[in-house]
Amino acid sequence: MQSLEKNLIVALRHATAAAHESIEQLPIMCRIMSATVTRLDYYYYLLVLRELYTPLEAALYTTVAADIQTRLGVRPKLPALLADLNEQAALNTEEQNASAELRKHVLLAPAMQDVNHLVGSFYVLEGATLGGRIIARHLQKVLGAELGGARFLDFHGEHTSAVWKQFAGALDDLCGEGYLEPNAVINGALATFADLYQQLAQCE
Ligand code: HEM
Repeated sequence: MQSLEKNLIVALRHATAAAHESIEQLPIMCRIMSATVTRLDYYYYLLVLRELYTPLEAALYTTVAADIQTRLGVRPKLPALLADLNEQAALNTEEQNASAELRKHVLLAPAMQDVNHLVGSFYVLEGATLGGRIIARHLQKVLGAELGGARFLDFHGEHTSAVWKQFAGALDDLCGEGYLEPNAVINGALATFADLYQQLAQCE
């Protein structure tokens, strides 16, 4: 059996599989993956994720050392999300934009934790780009050109698997160097999933 240090990404996948499944089953996720998803559902989805990503990315990118971010190959997704949101908002009527804003929830800022916890959060946000690609393909099929740029959902595009490999390799290197503690990273990822689940569950 491989040690956690040699393959932390596999351990993370196993440890968070049930949490991932629960999040996929939330109404907002079922809606976005449904055959009848509308452009307004997509707009609402982006609005909700903006509320989640704004405090989380602010905490991550200001706290984790820049060289660690570079080694992990992580970049903020919020600018892409805001660009997609602007593109979608421009297609809406004023009434549609106003009614979607009313459905917005006030979400909590994440509590600051140690570097292991933060890297666990990076795992969740980077992993979400894998599923994001699948969601983007689904929306492309249903919505066609109305989907627009999908800069956020298909964040890494054709580089998705190369970026994921870099992230996985950096996790193992950082564990090997004693900078990260594997079980603490896993706990951070689980806590992040639980937090996001709670917040996404508030969205009908
Ligand atoms: C409708 C919603 C979702 C669908 C259909 C979905 C689908 C997927 C799929 C198919 C993968 C595996 C991709 C691959 O192996 O190439 C994946 C991975 C992942 N997703 Fe999701 N996902 C969804 C929502 C989310 C959300 C909301 C999060 C967290 C914010 C998330 C976090 C992750 C993570 C961390 C991984 C990586 C798992 C690993 O280590 O391999 N997903 N997702």
